[in-house]
Amino acid sequence: MAEEEGSAQREAELRELREVLAVTNTAWDETEHTVHSDYDTFFTWDYEKGARPKLDKLYEKAKRAQWNAQTDLPWETEVDQEAVVVANAEASGGFLVNVDPAGTPVASWGDKEWLRFGIESQNWTLSQFLHGEQGALVCTAKIVESVPWIDAKYYAATQVMDEARHVEVFSKYLDEKLSGHYPINAHLRALLDDIIADNRWDITYLGMQIMVEGLALAAFGFMQQMTTEPLLKQLLRYVMADEARHVAFGVLSLQELYGQLSTAELRERQEFAYEAAVRMRDRFLQQEVWERMGVDPKAVAPILLQTPERKVFQAMLFSKIVPNCKKLGLLDAADGWLRHRFEELGVIQFEDWADTGEEYESLQAQPAGQAS
Ligand SMILES: [Fe+2]
Ligand SMILES: [Fe+2]
Repeated sequence: MAEEEGSAQREAELRELREVLAVTNTAWDETEHTVHSDYDTFFTWDYEKGARPKLDKLYEKAKRAQWNAQTDLPWETEVDQEAVVVANAEASGGFLVNVDPAGTPVASWGDKEWLRFGIESQNWTLSQFLHGEQGALVCTAKIVESVPWIDAKYYAATQVMDEARHVEVFSKYLDEKLSGHYPINAHLRALLDDIIADNRWDITYLGMQIMVEGLALAAFGFMQQMTTEPLLKQLLRYVMADEARHVAFGVLSLQELYGQLSTAELRERQEFAYEAAVRMRDRFLQQEVWERMGVDPKAVAPILLQTPERKVFQAMLFSKIVPNCKKLGLLDAADGWLRHRFEELGVIQFEDWADTGEEYESLQAQPAGQAS
C-alpha cells in the first residue's frame, strides 16, 4: 500500500515536472518585450530628508559604495570556460552523480556531451542573472515614481544606478568571457511581468526587493563561494554588496507600510509572495539548455526527480526570503497562512536566520579605492 502511494506520488511529481519543463522560451532572436502597467506616479512636496532615518542612512551608504563596472574589475583576466566548468564539476563529484539516466535521451551521453551541457548551463545561468538584473532596473525606476516618501525616492534612485551597473557587468562577462547568450527563461519572464504589471507600489517592492532579489542574493552567494574563476568571484562580491542593500531597502520600507495594513490586505500580499516562491523554487529548470542540446526538456523529468540535492539547493535559495517575510509580519498574519505554505514548501526552517534589514552591513564589500 505504502509502495503504491509512493509510486502514485512519483507519478504526480513527474507530471508536474513535465508541465513545468514544457514551457520554454525559444524566441532566440527576440529583442523587445513590453508590459502594460497602469499605476499612479506619486509626487511629494514633503522634502524633509531623513524623516525615515533608516532609509536615509541606507541612501548615504549607497552613495559612498558606488563602483565603476568598467574600471574596478580585472577585465583583463583570461577565462578558460571549459576549464572552469570541468573544475566546478570535479568539485561536486562529476556531472551526473548518483543518477541513473536509463531510458532518457541523456543515457548515451559521454564526457563530451556533459562538458557542453556544463558550458551551456553556465551561459544560461548568467543570462538569467542578466535578465533578472534588467527586471530590477525597471522595477526600481518604477519605485522612484510610485513610492510616496522622499527618502525612499532618493534611495531607489541609487538603486537604479546599481542595477544599470549590474546589467552592464553581466552583459560584459557573457560577451567577453563566456560563449553565448540565452533568452529569458519563460517562467522568469512570467514572474517579472506579473511584478511589473501590478499597480500597487508595495507589490513592486515585495516581488522584486523581497522575493527576486532575496533569491538572487542567495544564488549569487552560492556561485561566489563555488567558483574558482577570480573575475567572476570578484564581480559577484561587488554585486552582492549592492544586492544586500537592495533587499534591506525592501524590508525597511515595507515594514512601515505592512504595520498599517488590514488582515485582508496582508493576506493578498501573502498570496503574492507564495505564488512567487513556488515559481522560483520549482520552475527555473534550464529548460532552454535542454532544448539547445537537442533534447526534449520533458524527457529529462525522471532525472531531475532523482537528484535529491536539487531540492536541498532549491530550499537554500529561501534562506533570505523567509526571515525577511517574517520581519515584515507576513509569515504570521492572517492566522499564519504564509507560515503554513512555507512549511509545505519545506523552507520554514530559515525563519530565524538573519534578516537582511539587519544583516546588510556585514555584506558590504569595499569597492576598490574607496573609503567606508
Ligand atoms: Fe542587481
Ligand atoms: Fe538589486
